[in-house]
Amino acid sequence: MDWQSAATGRFPATRLRRNRRHGWSRRLVREHRLTADDLIWPVFVHAGQQRREAIDSMPGVDRLSIDLLVEAVGGAIELGIPAVALFPVTEAGKKTEDAREAVNPNNLVCQAVRAVKAAHGNSVGVICDVALDPYSSHGHDGLVRDGDVANDETLEVLCRQAVVQAEAGCDVVAPSDMMDGRIGAVRQALDAVGLERVQIMSYAAKYASAFYGPFRDAVGSAANLGQGSKDTYQMDPANGDEALREVALDWDEGADMVMVKPGMPYLDILARVKRAFAAPTFVYQVSGEYAMLCAAAERGWLNRQRAMLESLLAFKRAGADGILTYFAVEAAGLLRQGREV
Ligand code: PBG
Repeated sequence: MDWQSAATGRFPATRLRRNRRHGWSRRLVREHRLTADDLIWPVFVHAGQQRREAIDSMPGVDRLSIDLLVEAVGGAIELGIPAVALFPVTEAGKKTEDAREAVNPNNLVCQAVRAVKAAHGNSVGVICDVALDPYSSHGHDGLVRDGDVANDETLEVLCRQAVVQAEAGCDVVAPSDMMDGRIGAVRQALDAVGLERVQIMSYAAKYASAFYGPFRDAVGSAANLGQGSKDTYQMDPANGDEALREVALDWDEGADMVMVKPGMPYLDILARVKRAFAAPTFVYQVSGEYAMLCAAAERGWLNRQRAMLESLLAFKRAGADGILTYFAVEAAGLLRQGREV
């Protein structure tokens, strides 16, 4: 029987349950697999030494001082996680209207990058966010002029921010600000100072989402943003085609990798992006998704490990080449023990 008649076969000749009967057979026909190679671990860094601080809305996630970060990254490497994404918690006193701390070559994230690279070299990739929200007193990702986030003026600061991060040794800069033209501008700025080998992971299709709430608690930008919203620069959750335009522009401007964010509510976007461009596509399982799964698991409403692994595998099936997830270390630990889903 050729494949077409097999595919149109009818019960009882066709029984899809046959392949599912035993574990060995399910393993044979499994289409997608999650491995530690797929995981990028986002970590929050704060000032001090030997300082670890829990984040209420993200149970199991801690803010770490640089020394503890270096240790934790060692653990992640040991589990086979290829890259970490660092997010600084900026002291309130260092936040200003113009977010100038963002371009300080000795700011917290640059110190963290130097420490991680000094300890671990190229056994791990280090990714830094490019956006002004950790540093701005108003909590926006760009400069505010007359009540609006000023696109072109912001680009200049983002370029300087990307350069100081790259000079500190980060491998990948990840613009998450959603200004127009930022990928091209950052690429040019890096190339102009001889940093043409630094990769750009663009937060290309980044939606104005309620699911970032716990992250803003974690980095302490929630209070700064207050009632403000990012609707004038992040994407409208109602739009799908527009994501393809965002991604197309970013490839054109020189992105090495693109990302869709959030993850689970936007699997359709992830699948469309991967299908349309067949190029390195990442997804961010954001703080609110993490918090939801943890909260349900804490109440005994979901099995934490199974729900975690299933959510991550779903990203692979939808087309992700890699996943930024706060579960990275826990998931890699389970995978090491031979757990699948
Ligand atoms: C900063 C940034 C945000 C996230 C990553 N980078 C928050 C935002 O845009 O407000 C969210 C990550 C998460 O929720 O886990 N621009």
